[in-house]
Formats: sequence, structure tokens, C-alpha cells
Amino acid sequence: MPDLSSLRGRFPALAREHGGRPAVFADAPGGSQVPETVIEAMASYLRSSNANTHGAFATSRETDAVIEEAHRAAADLLNADPDEVIFGPNATTLLFHVSRSIARTLGPGDEVVVTRLDHDANVRPWVLAAADAGATVRWVDVREEDVTLDQGSFEEALSERTRVVAFTLASNAVGTITPAAELVRLTRERAPAALVVCDGVHLAQHRRIDVRALGADLVAVSPYKVFGPHLGILFGRREVLERLTPYKVRPAPDELPFRFETGTQNHEGMAGWVAAVGYLAEVGRTHGAPAGPSRREAIAAAFRAIEAWERGLAARFLEGARSVPGLRVYGISDPERLAERTPTFAVRLEGRHPAETAAALGERGIFVWDGHYYALELMERLGLQATGGAVRIGFCHYHTPEEVDRVLEELARLA
Ligand SMILES: Cc1ncc(COP(=O)(O)O)c(C=O)c1O
Repeated sequence: MPDLSSLRGRFPALAREHGGRPAVFADAPGGSQVPETVIEAMASYLRSSNANTHGAFATSRETDAVIEEAHRAAADLLNADPDEVIFGPNATTLLFHVSRSIARTLGPGDEVVVTRLDHDANVRPWVLAAADAGATVRWVDVREEDVTLDQGSFEEALSERTRVVAFTLASNAVGTITPAAELVRLTRERAPAALVVCDGVHLAQHRRIDVRALGADLVAVSPYKVFGPHLGILFGRREVLERLTPYKVRPAPDELPFRFETGTQNHEGMAGWVAAVGYLAEVGRTHGAPAGPSRREAIAAAFRAIEAWERGLAARFLEGARSVPGLRVYGISDPERLAERTPTFAVRLEGRHPAETAAALGERGIFVWDGHYYALELMERLGLQATGGAVRIGFCHYHTPEEVDRVLEELARLA
């Protein structure tokens, strides 16, 4: 297993203390910390290149170059073409944005498929689009015992009438990774008229998302969960983005990707994003990439190392969790099935409200979420919503085994 603990030094926020001890940022599924190089790139853009686009002067030309490079960086991350990448404020806004273009192609008798495993960002846009168009919504259930997508329910929901199939690549609540390539294959077979919309927001922090291998039509990702600034990205297959009619102002370009990028973008965020992808490429170059790799190869190598390191963290957490009295972990807990989950754990301590557990951990410098984290359908389906949802403990590659142990110790103290 590669040792990634030295990478912590790249993230200034991780030096933060709380109550005289190092803070543990176990809120990674809600947003990751950023390397110093990201902070520097954003500050540098604002210091010396801040402008709007397409002007006949230096700072504007520099801004155009930042935007171009940000698309290239996202394309390398996702194995896409730069003009298939749309930037926006966040994934939710981009999904609502594109759902409007898709809604106008729907009508009564058409069906959209959504799942109970998803964050609401990839549920509500399609439920509302169906309501606007008079189309029908079909729900895919989860298997309660291991909180995975119920594949039988997925297959039953598909038909010749299906126009949209929306599912997540990984659950931000319980860490389950879906068998996405297989779900795309099933959709193409049983619902040939459907667009496949994948939510890659949670998975992108933990695995390389290769949109070509995946074969989906649209994939949303949030750079602020991939060690970058607060931005959203939507990948769309060229043929799909060209076919859809964008809601745009008349002077905005009609070419890809700009026809879907409404208004002025977050240029400093894009500068930071280029640095975030650069960081990942560096991780790959120092952890297993072949000599002289392309940025794409280096990113793929980085995620191989990240996956291996995170698997160690997940195994350690699950093993330790067994000896915390009254601690229940929702989702996959079989150590043989770690390939099917991220190191994101929804837990509850017997006899304690999740908000109380999260606050007690927060006081001790362990930063975690509680509630539904917008995976509202899932929390309702698991019967947890009415009693406060669950506590979410989320690790990523900059965490260490010692931090996992510290979280377990604090949970044991509360138990
Ligand atoms: C799985 C998942 N999808 C979508 C979103 C929404 O992303 P954004 O905040 O970029 O709109 C989140 C954010 O928590 C998420 O975890």
C-alpha cells in the first residue's frame, strides 16, 4: 500500500488545531480541503489577471487562457474532450440547468427514472422536469441490508418509454459505489431512448471517473470535493450537448461548451481548479505513474494510489467500529467488499441523537456532519429521517490511520 501521509503537508488547513489538538476534518464528503498551490493560483489570478473575457488586452487574454486550461484540466480528470465540459457554480445548479433543456423534450407517456440512493441534486431536477412535462416518475429502491442499489428494481423501472435515467456513481451518505458501467449497459439495452445522467460528485474524490469507459450521457462533478474551489462541472457527450437546446442569452456563443455556460464564470475558481488537477497529477507522478506520463495517465495513477490508501482507512474504521459498544454502521461493512464503497460512513450511537453525537465530536475537534446531507430519499427509506438521520464520518486520501483511530476513540468515549 502506498503511504500518502506525507501529502498532508500540502494542505494548510490540516494544520488547524481545536482545543489544543489537531482537528480531524472528517467532513470530506461535504467538501475537501485544498492544497497551498490552489490557494496561490486563486490569489495570483485575482492579483494580476482579474478581468472579463474576450477583451483586446492582456488580463482579458490571460483570463481566456485560464478558462481554456480549466476545461482541459477537467477533461483530463474525466477522460473527456475539453468542449464536453461545462462549468457552473455547483453541480446542483448545472443539473437543474440542463434538466430544463431536457424537460422540453419530454411529454405525457414518457418516463424518468430516479433512485432512493441519490443526493437530491440528481433527483429533484428530474422529478420537477417530469411534473412540468406531464411525464411519469419511476423510483429505484435500495436493499436495506447493505444499502446498495436494488438492481432488480432498476431493471423493472426501465422500458421503451424511459427518457431519463438518473443515478449516482456513489452515495454521499453511506459510501456505496454503484455498478455504474453495468447500469449504463442495462439502460442502453432496455431503454434505448433514455439519456443517462450520473452524479459523480461523491465518487470523484475517491476514484478516477472515466466518462468514456462509463458511457453515460451526462456526469456531474463538484471541484470543491476534489481538492479544488467551489465550482460545479457537468460533462456531456458532445452529441447530446449539441442536440439539446440550451437556455442562453442571445449574444452568448452557440458553440460547445459555452452554449451551456451562462454568464460570467468564477475565473479565480477555475485558476484554482487547474492547480487542483495539477496536484492530482503530481500525486500520480510520485506514486506509481510510468515515466513521463501524460496528465491523464498521472491522474489515473494518483487515483490507484488514493484508492489503495483509502481502502486501508476504511478497513481500519470498520474493524475498530466493531468494538465500539452500540455503534451501528449503515451500508457495506464486509471487509471483502471494500471495492464497493468509499471511506464514508453513516453511523449512529445507540441512545444518542445524531445531532448530539456530531456536536460532542465537534467539541473534541472531530468535524463531521449529521442529518440527511441532502440524501433525503435514502434517510427516509432507511427510516432514519424522523429521528435525526445519521452521523456521517468521511475520510479521503489526506487522512491517516492515526486520525481514524482518534475518531474511533472519541466514539468509544461517547458510547
Ligand atoms: C453525491 C452528491 N451529489 C450532489 C451534490 C451537490 O453538489 P453541489 O454542492 O456542487 O451542488 C453533493 C453535495 O454534497 C453530493 O454529495
